[in-house]
Formats: sequence, structure tokens, C-alpha cells
Amino acid sequence: TDDFFKNIISHAKEYGFVFPSSEIYDGLSAVYDYGQMGSELKNNLKTYWWKSMVQLNENIVGIDAAIFMHPTTWKASGHVDGFNDPMIDNKDSKKRYRADQLIEDKIDRYEKDGKTDKATRLQKDLDDAITADDLVRLKAIIEEHHIVCPISGTKNWTDVRQFNLMFATQMGAMAEEAEKVYLRPETAQGIFVNFLNVQKTGRMKIPFGIAQIGKAFRNEVIARQFIMRMREFEQMELQFFIRPGTEMEWYEKWKATRLKWHLALGADATKYRYHDHVKPAHYANAAVDIEYQFPFGFKEVEGIHSRTDFDLKQHQEYSKKKIQYFDPEINQNYVPYVVETSIGLDRLFLTVLANSLVEEDLSTEEKKDSRVVLKFHPAIAPVKAAVLPLTKKDGLPDKAREIMTKLKLDFNIQYDEKDAIGKRYRRQDAIGTPFCITVDYQTLEDNTVTIRHRDSMEQERVPAADLRNIIGELVSW
Ligand code: GAP
Repeated sequence: TDDFFKNIISHAKEYGFVFPSSEIYDGLSAVYDYGQMGSELKNNLKTYWWKSMVQLNENIVGIDAAIFMHPTTWKASGHVDGFNDPMIDNKDSKKRYRADQLIEDKIDRYEKDGKTDKATRLQKDLDDAITADDLVRLKAIIEEHHIVCPISGTKNWTDVRQFNLMFATQMGAMAEEAEKVYLRPETAQGIFVNFLNVQKTGRMKIPFGIAQIGKAFRNEVIARQFIMRMREFEQMELQFFIRPGTEMEWYEKWKATRLKWHLALGADATKYRYHDHVKPAHYANAAVDIEYQFPFGFKEVEGIHSRTDFDLKQHQEYSKKKIQYFDPEINQNYVPYVVETSIGLDRLFLTVLANSLVEEDLSTEEKKDSRVVLKFHPAIAPVKAAVLPLTKKDGLPDKAREIMTKLKLDFNIQYDEKDAIGKRYRRQDAIGTPFCITVDYQTLEDNTVTIRHRDSMEQERVPAADLRNIIGELVSW
């Protein structure tokens, strides 16, 4: 599985999906750039989310709030005081770790060594310490279980301290005037502060939702696992505003809806599971993760949180502005409750890569052969079809380009005339292109082409004039 994960990372780089940020300067820890294929895939994933949330639901609208927000926002939201990770330093290596992560790694090791009882007991100890915010206990656990620094191999630890995850910067040119502002650690607050703006101008009636896609920033203590834990990442969040007292019903509803959404991307249902939080974040009274089975184990991809009226009430108090809704059905004013769904786009991207990358053995008795394929759902594939003239002569390239021109307004199409046709098919397989359209001598006579299907590798002959409809049908949901 370690090898499979390494394959994903190297495939992502080799084919232009994900590059380390500023790589010519040896990269920047936990920051990544999306390349020519990656940005297409990312856009398609965003569209899938946006359509299923905003376009398909009459009572959900989307916004695009700024990354910078008034600094008081983060006091009100609780992030200035409460958005912390417990960290510990090793005095020999001078390396900093998340205390809970070191313990989680130990649990994994116990499990790998077949010490299931020990793993279970340690997990419970950890959960208790985290629930109680007990930093002294965390340190004691690290000592009791002889956890050593992965770099220095020593147990020479500092005490456990809280470390705030927000990035701060200064607004304004003059130092004296400068005011500390934060890069948002979640997109949700941009929705809460706009609650009244959207409710009033959109004449929204509860229950209704506000959706948003955008960047978020966290100064993660440790960078791990490629694009799983980044310092700059993207979230797709929905805040769904409801009548107080209906929160558990909506929480269950969104929990089920969101899992279905993941499964529609084509993954095996056994790869997903729910994980209830023992200690929901400071703003929530119930929280569940949707986890995906990555090569390194089940990890959170999306969180569903019952946020009560915590955020709106806090903003009401700090801004001294009334944030209420008049519910005509019950003739009452109230501060709405909120159920949130929050998915990390980069993590979703990684689930899609992990779920799609396959190496297929195509060996026959005569010849050894294999191919690497990204079996994306056609709707999210970066390139929908490649147009390939069989040879570079006799007018085939002109004909191929003519066909491509008719398709490229509707679909992202690649043209490729270099190398033998088999090699070109393999290149398209590797970036997950679901269809290859081959233009050959017969095309010049009767204007038909072949379509090769990525997964079955089967080919069929169709009129070029029908391509737009055929591809449109195949790449839709
Ligand atoms: N507004 C709620 C919120 O932000 P969260 O559980 O802290 O909740 C939601 O984050 C999602 O954002 C996670 O499920 C994960 O997919 C993604 N996410 C969080 N931190 C991340 C990071 N450092 N790198 C990449 N994705 C991250």
C-alpha cells in the first residue's frame, strides 16, 4: 500500500496533476500546485458539487466571500481562542509534532503488530485526554508508551502546548496603522456574516442553505501525506439554516445525502464509512466524518456538523446587530440553527486519484503487456476525448482538426498526432480520457470515425456528425 501511494504521487506529477509548490526552490512544505490536468479535474469536481448543491436545490444559493474578513469575526467564531492543536517539541531534533498525532501513530503501530488490546486501550486514553483538553495527560501518555521522536529517536520531550492554527498578516501599508488580519481557516464564517444579506436579498425562507467554494489556510504543525494535510487548501461548504429543534433530523438527512454524493463518483461503498466525533469542534454539538479508505488507512474527507445557533449568536453579540429570522409559519422570531457539510476539495481529489488509478495486465501468450489507467467517471475526466489522426499524412490531420473544432466548444478535447496510435491510446489512458476518436482513411470517404472506450478498450464506428451527441450523453451524470 505504501508503494501504491507512492505511485499515486509520482503519477500525479508525471502527468501534470499535482506539483510541489515552487519546486525549483525545493518546494514549500504542505503547499502544492495543480497542473494542467489537475486544475481541470479540480474544476470538474467543483462543478459536480456546485450543481448538486446549488443548481439542483431551489432552496440553496451560492456565494463567494473574501478570504480576508474583519478580525473580530475570528474572535466571535472562537478561532482566536479555541482553534488550536496540542503540540510537543523534541529537544534533541528541535522538531515539532502534534501530540495527538504521535499517539495515533503509536496506535497504528500497535495494530500493525497485532497488539489490538493495547491499541484499543490507548485509543480510549487518547480520546479521554482530548475530550478533557488535558495537555498534562497527553504528555504522560507519550512517556508511558515510550514514544520517541521519528527523527532523533529520543524521548527528550517538552511539555505539550496549544498552538493556534491561523495565519496572521497585516493590513495597511504603514506599520503603525497596521492591523492584524487572518487568512480564513474555514470558509464558513463568510457565509455566517452574510446570513442577513442573502436571506433578505434572495427572499430565502427557512429551511435554506448557502454554499461556497474557496481557499482556507491553516498553519498545520505537521505536513503529511501529500495533499491530505495542506497549509493552503480549498473547501466546499454548505451552511443549512433551519428552525431550532429540527437539527437532528437535518443532520441525519445531510449525513445520508453526502455519502450518496460520494458514492455517485463511482467508488466502492466499502471504501467509505462514517466516524462519529468524540469531541466535536468548539462550535458543534454533534459531528461526523465521512472517511475514505486511503492507502494509508481510513481518513476524513468530509465533515457534517450540527453547529446549533453558536455562530450566528456569537456574531450577533460581537457585532451588536440583530441576526434573526421571522418565521411566518409559526409567527416567531429566532436565531436559526445550522447544519454544515464541509468537504476538502484537495482530499476529494486524492480520493478520486486513489480510486481511479489502476495498472492492468494485458499480457497474452505471445507478449507481456500492461497499461496504467485513470478510470475517472467520464463527467469529471480532465479531457473528455482525444482526436487522433491515424497517420500524419494524406489529409488525415486536417480532417481530424475539422472534427475537433466542432467539439471543442462543448468539451475539453486533445489533439495528438505524434507516435503510433497504440502509444497515443496509452497516453490518454494515463490521464483518464474516456474516449479516443480515431480518424482514418475511411473517414475521408464516409465521414465516420471510431470511438475507443477507455475502460473496455472496445471500438465502435460512428458518424462524425453524431459525435457531439454521443459524447455529451456519455460524459453526463
Ligand atoms: N467549517 C468546518 C470545518 O472547517 P473541518 O473538519 O476543520 O471543518 C472540513 O474541515 C474539511 O476540510 C475536512 O473534512 C477536510 O476535508 C478539509 N481540510 C481540513 N484541513 C485540511 C488541510 N489542512 N488540508 C486539506 N484539507 C483540509
